[in-house]
Amino acid sequence: MPSGTPETDRPFVVVGVSGGIAAYKSVELVRRLRERDYHVAVITTPAAERFVSPFTLGTLASEPVARDLFSEAGGPIPHTRLGQLADLIVIAPATADVIGRYAAGLGDDLLTTTLLAARGTVLVCPAMHTEMWENAAVQENLATLRRRGVLVLEPASGALAGGDEGPGRLPEVEVIVERVASLVEGPGHPLSGRRLLITAGGTREPIDPVRVLTNRSSGRQGHALAEVAAQWGAEVTLVTASELPAPTGWGHVTTVRAETAAAMREEVLARLDDADALIMAAAVADFTVRPAATKLKRRDGVPTLHLEPTADILAEAVARRRPGQVLVGFAAESSDALRNGREKFVRKGVDLLVLNDVSRPGAGFETATNEVVLIDATGEEPVSLRSKAEVARAVLGRVASLLSRGDE
Ligand code: CTP
Repeated sequence: MPSGTPETDRPFVVVGVSGGIAAYKSVELVRRLRERDYHVAVITTPAAERFVSPFTLGTLASEPVARDLFSEAGGPIPHTRLGQLADLIVIAPATADVIGRYAAGLGDDLLTTTLLAARGTVLVCPAMHTEMWENAAVQENLATLRRRGVLVLEPASGALAGGDEGPGRLPEVEVIVERVASLVEGPGHPLSGRRLLITAGGTREPIDPVRVLTNRSSGRQGHALAEVAAQWGAEVTLVTASELPAPTGWGHVTTVRAETAAAMREEVLARLDDADALIMAAAVADFTVRPAATKLKRRDGVPTLHLEPTADILAEAVARRRPGQVLVGFAAESSDALRNGREKFVRKGVDLLVLNDVSRPGAGFETATNEVVLIDATGEEPVSLRSKAEVARAVLGRVASLLSRGDE
C-alpha cells in the first residue's frame, strides 16, 4: 500500500514506556503489536529502564529502542523523526510524571519531545497507585490533554503493586492492542474499496494580486477525514483549499489543491461521477469578487467590492446524484445551531449533515478538537468534544453505514 512515510508502508506505531511497575507489560504489548504487522518503535524514559530492559524491548520491536535525545543511534533528530512518522503514539504505562510533563508542554526527554512533535493520534494509558490517580493535579492534567484531543484509556481496577487494590492498573495488553488496532485500522476496514471525494479548508477569493477574501476554516477536519478514510481502506481524493500538508501516514490519499470556490467546483465536479461519496467539509465562499489585475492602491481611496454569489457545489452534486451515491454536507452555525442545522439538512437534500456550532469553545475552526451533531434521516447524534480524527471516525462510521444501506 502506498504511504506518505518514506520508511514503511505499514502502520507506524510508537510505544512510549515510562517508569512504573506496569512497564513489564510493555514487552508483551510490543510483541502483540508486531504480530499485527505494524512497524513498532519504542521510546523508554530512564525510569522505565529501571523496570524493563531496552534490550528486550528492542529485540521485539522493529528498530532499536530510542532512549536518548542526544544519542547518535536514532539520527540527529530522533524526536522529530518519530513524531512525524508515527500514525499513533501509545504511552503505556503513562506515569503521573509523564502525564504532567506532557500536559505542561515540556520537552525534557526523548518521549516528551516526540509528543511535542507528534502529528498522529496519541493514546495515553495511565497506570499508577489509586491515590496518585485520584490526585487533583493528575486529573486536571488528563483533562487538559483530553481537551487537546489526546485519547486517554481509563485504567482498570484491581490489584496494585505492594498489595493494594483500586483503580490505577494498566488495562490488560489485549485491551490496549484492541484500542490501538481500531485507531490505526478502523473497525475492520469498513470503507474498503469505496471511493471518497472529500473537500477541506476555506477557499480564498482574490481581491487583487495581494489580497484575498477568506474564512477561518483551517482544513484540519477535512484533512482528518481524508486520513482516517484512507486508514479505513477507502480510495480518497482530497480537494483542499488549505495549506496544511497533504495527509501522510498509513493509506493513500490523492491530494488536489483548489484555492477558490470556482476552482474547487471544477475539481469536485470533474471527479463526482466516480465517487461513491462526497463529503463537503470545505468552507466554500458564498461570495466572490472580480479581482483587480493590479494591487489596489491606498492613494486611490477606499475601494468598493462588488460581491457576486458563487455556485453552490453541494447543490449541484445533489442535482446530479447517481443512485446509491452518498452526499454529506457540513454546516457551520454560530447561533440557533440545532434549529438551523435541522432546517439545512432538509433544504440541502443531503444524506448526512455534520453540524458545527462554531460558537462553542474547542469546536469548529482553528482548533485541534471538534464537537458536532450528526443529522440524517434517522435522527440526530451528538458527538461530544474530541480530536478531529475522532470526529472523523464518527462521521465516516455513518458514511460507511449509509453506503452499505445503498448496497442492499
Ligand atoms: N457549500 C458548497 N458550495 C458553496 C457553499 C457551500 O458546496 N458555494 C457547501 C459547504 O461545503 C457545506 C454546505 O454547503 O458542506 C453548507 O454550507 P453553508 O455555507 O453552511 O450553507 P449555506 O446554504 O450557504 O447556508 P448559510 O445560509 O448559513 O450561509
